[in-house]
Amino acid sequence: MNPLVPEFLADYLPTLIQLSYLLAAVLFILGLKRLSSPATARTGNRLAALGMLIGVAVTLFDHEIVSFRYIVAGILIGSVIGAILARKVKMTSMPELVSMFNGFGGIASALVASGEYFRIAPAVFAVQELAAMSISLLIGTMTFTGSLVAFSKLRGIIGGSPIIYPGYKIVHTLLFVIFLVAAVLFFMDAGNAYLFLVLAVIAFLLGILLVLPIGGADMPVVISLLNSLTGLAASATGFVLHNNLLIISGTLVGAAGLILTLIMCKAMNRPLFNVLFGAFGGDGVDAGAPGAATGKTVKEVTASDLAVMAAYARRVVIVPGYGLAVAQAQHIVREVADLLEARKVDVRYGIHPVAGRMPGHMNVLLAEANVPYPQLFDMDEINNEFPKTDLVLVIGANDVVNPDARHNTSSPIYGMPILNVDQAQNVVIFKRSLNVGYAGIDNQLFYADNSYMFFGDAKKSLESLQKALKEL
Ligand code: TAP
Repeated sequence: MNPLVPEFLADYLPTLIQLSYLLAAVLFILGLKRLSSPATARTGNRLAALGMLIGVAVTLFDHEIVSFRYIVAGILIGSVIGAILARKVKMTSMPELVSMFNGFGGIASALVASGEYFRIAPAVFAVQELAAMSISLLIGTMTFTGSLVAFSKLRGIIGGSPIIYPGYKIVHTLLFVIFLVAAVLFFMDAGNAYLFLVLAVIAFLLGILLVLPIGGADMPVVISLLNSLTGLAASATGFVLHNNLLIISGTLVGAAGLILTLIMCKAMNRPLFNVLFGAFGGDGVDAGAPGAATGKTVKEVTASDLAVMAAYARRVVIVPGYGLAVAQAQHIVREVADLLEARKVDVRYGIHPVAGRMPGHMNVLLAEANVPYPQLFDMDEINNEFPKTDLVLVIGANDVVNPDARHNTSSPIYGMPILNVDQAQNVVIFKRSLNVGYAGIDNQLFYADNSYMFFGDAKKSLESLQKALKEL
């Protein structure tokens, strides 16, 4: 008997819990729907958070809660770590943080399923419960170790190139087969905890081995796929615990993550199968030396010349990339755009789906600076507009505007759709040097006839442009 529940409610409690779960699930779905547009995303987030609050609060009334002391301690420790991380983590480190979140989500599901196994074993389990446990263990543990590898690649602890060895695909296949055999044996002898441990060890190894061969340029796909797997692991754990809300919310995360994965694949023009099993997409395929090393020359522009070009343009498109996040130039870019708009220049932002280092990175940055949503255009919407554009300001972007993706069949990014900024009348590229971007390859855009380099930290360069515009 739960001390929090008055006696007269005890009989109705299971029904009330299920009704509350239903309400929470509806709020999740409405929240997700609203997340599909930047204009409604904030309220969507709040609705989903309210659903989560209801879900957590109602679960606390569950009669199987063992000790509130542990729960309160967990909430306190988690909140302190979360609050410190939220304050300390730099915007540029968000992708690594997201990767760790995925990993912890996965291992949490696997641990809950394991806890349930060791709590009840050697009692009899139904086959579907054993299957759900095995799936949760496999996906959750794989997500954890895979996310650790992704984190290390993003952080530069291990190189971004595919790490492969002869026969690695055979090793992966063998491990899957051994997992399946061990799972069948486990179904037949559920009390055998050794088999459970064998499953855990294989899942642990698979996560590492499957992500190591995936190259740096494919990381956007990997991160969103790991995110999707976190949801599926939670959903499997929901079947173990017979918890409807966990099943629904896990499935929603799994489905949303899978849709995002497919969008990322489309953005990079890479079939999912190739990403996972192709060991491709790293740097070093045809890196091409940066222009300085090959004797190619670029033209530079000064702040005052650029101010004139921009102020008398009819349309300016701003293309942000990872360097905008590094420089934290989102606020100043908006101020420059405001100055241009005051001069009746049509200002738009062209957003590439994999610009930056995590899905939606540029949207988040620009939203932080209150850039009006109608000014943000997806790649498909803006690409036809470049031939009608007088000036493109490429700010800290590199790979996502590299024309090699269209022409150079030996380039690691060949086939990836890019923002066709080279089709505009003039292109000005804000960056500190001729250095390469994430994919590690030179960019022919810098040497094109209609391109100009504006060297320097993006924030400082934009400040000098702002000053020059005001002095016009
Ligand atoms: P990148 O190709 O990585 O280029 C960023 C450029 O920003 C660099 O060339 C760098 O040049 C410049 N930069 C860095 N700091 C700067 C500063 N303070 N001021 C001015 N410029 C600065 O970026 P992108 O075009 O956004 O492309 C994203 C890449 O990351 C793609 O290859 C994508 O596949 C990969 N990726 C994306 C994701 C997601 S989900 N979005 C996840 C993982 C990987 P300098 O050093 O010369 O300044």
